[in-house]
Amino acid sequence: MTSNSPFSLDNSDAYARWREQKLKSAQMAPEVTLNPLSLKGSQVEALKKNCREQNFSLFSFDHTPKHAEIAIHQLGLALGLNDIDNNLCAEDSGITEIRVKETSTDNVYIPYTNRPLGWHTDGYYNMPNQQIHGWLLYCGHPAIEGGINGLIDHELIYIKLRDQNPEWIAALMASDAFTIPSNVEGGNVIRGDSVGPVFSINSDGHSLHMRYSARQRNVQWKDDENTQAAASAILDLLNSDDDHILHLTLEQGQGIISNNVLHNRSSFTDSDDPSQRRVIYRARYHNRVA
Ligand SMILES: [Fe+2]
Repeated sequence: MTSNSPFSLDNSDAYARWREQKLKSAQMAPEVTLNPLSLKGSQVEALKKNCREQNFSLFSFDHTPKHAEIAIHQLGLALGLNDIDNNLCAEDSGITEIRVKETSTDNVYIPYTNRPLGWHTDGYYNMPNQQIHGWLLYCGHPAIEGGINGLIDHELIYIKLRDQNPEWIAALMASDAFTIPSNVEGGNVIRGDSVGPVFSINSDGHSLHMRYSARQRNVQWKDDENTQAAASAILDLLNSDDDHILHLTLEQGQGIISNNVLHNRSSFTDSDDPSQRRVIYRARYHNRVA
């Protein structure tokens, strides 16, 4: 652990200073409006500042870009998000269109249904060297009803837990705190066990990464008293009406940029008209907003 980091348990002074500042800036949900064809330096700086302070920012494009993928890609690059994650479902650009999809395999991926998606950070099942540190969502079209995103800065969850019991933080920082068992399809191992901490300090020493899923099945919390208690405390916080949890329904042209904060999604109802169905574009990055 980096000893001068506010996240280091042996540095309560740095923690107290950082905590005060963090809680001060966590009061509102910031939004920045941009022209997708001409990103202004001041607007990009405003987005970066929001991400520095709250680990996310809302944004909206002042008009619908003709090519959403290109506009998203450009916005990501302007924010220093240059290490895009290419997953199996992503189009060539690395940007995934999330909509209800019929699937031919037995494995139903909840993101591509209209079902609720529980609290998580992206890529919690990735290997340690493939962690996701940033993501960007952009709404091409909202649902008729629902599809509400919950958001909370994971650094606020850290504060709420550390204030209750610092030993929970130590347990969650252990390198074997949280395991996602391997993914095996048709007898082939697609991904091995993903074992790692829940909270880890980024290499800058002053920002935090979180690996988390509220799923109860196919996740293994370390069998130890503090880890188990910490896991229930996180779940209780996420299921509470805590003031710091933001609930928002992205409108067409609106999006979220984040340093992989905790999020969820409610179920939704789609239109019968295929052209009016919910479409969210998503990009995931291995790096954070600069
Ligand atoms: Fe996600």
